[in-house]
Amino acid sequence: MELIRGNTELEALNSKLNDDAELLAYKKPLDTYRSSLVPRLLGHTLVWCGNVVYGKRPSYLKFRAVEIIARAHYHSWASAVYTLHFMTLFYSNEQKAIQLSNTAKYARLAQDNETMHVVVISQLAKREHKAGFLRNTLAPMLFAFVYFWASYLLYLIKPRYSYELNYMFENHAFEQYNEFIHRHEESLKKKPVDSPFLVWYGRHPKNQWEFFRSIRNDEIIHRNTSIEEIGK
Ligand SMILES: [Fe+2]
Ligand SMILES: [Fe+2]
Repeated sequence: MELIRGNTELEALNSKLNDDAELLAYKKPLDTYRSSLVPRLLGHTLVWCGNVVYGKRPSYLKFRAVEIIARAHYHSWASAVYTLHFMTLFYSNEQKAIQLSNTAKYARLAQDNETMHVVVISQLAKREHKAGFLRNTLAPMLFAFVYFWASYLLYLIKPRYSYELNYMFENHAFEQYNEFIHRHEESLKKKPVDSPFLVWYGRHPKNQWEFFRSIRNDEIIHRNTSIEEIGK
């Protein structure tokens, strides 16, 4: 049973994906992955609701909501794993315990990564938009609440469904960031990122374009890892 990559390895993979050929080689094999019906329906509904509230086009405000929701998914896995671990202890099933610990480790790494996304993007969004309570606070909170429980229950019922729902959501996040950095390349390269949190995390992009490119790369890693986790 393979161990999940550590943070150093993830950062090395992230940098490698700055190269277009490497990115294509990494993403292509899973581009055509078809999720089961239940996660597919949930995933499409979530993306549709997001488009209704924030518009189809990517924006700072939409990214902020995406990141708040994305983090909820990894929290839900951590909670579901604790629930299952509790049950596993009664049955002394060590293989199952290793598998659950691997999921918990991945969920922790991804949570830290998504937290960095939320913190930095919230600061950037504050400078770009004046948003009302609904789009800034209420909508992301409600989406995250529903997403947390959907993902938690799916993991308990059938982990594959929960991974596939995450695949759909992370694929959407990747596409939105990719569109954003291509559409606004020139202006983003002129905007700085002043974030003590990002420095603490260990990333040092020269401008917002490099920052959003690194976030895009994180999302495709999250997408692929979700599918790689199925069956481990
Ligand atoms: Fe993210
Ligand atoms: Fe993500």
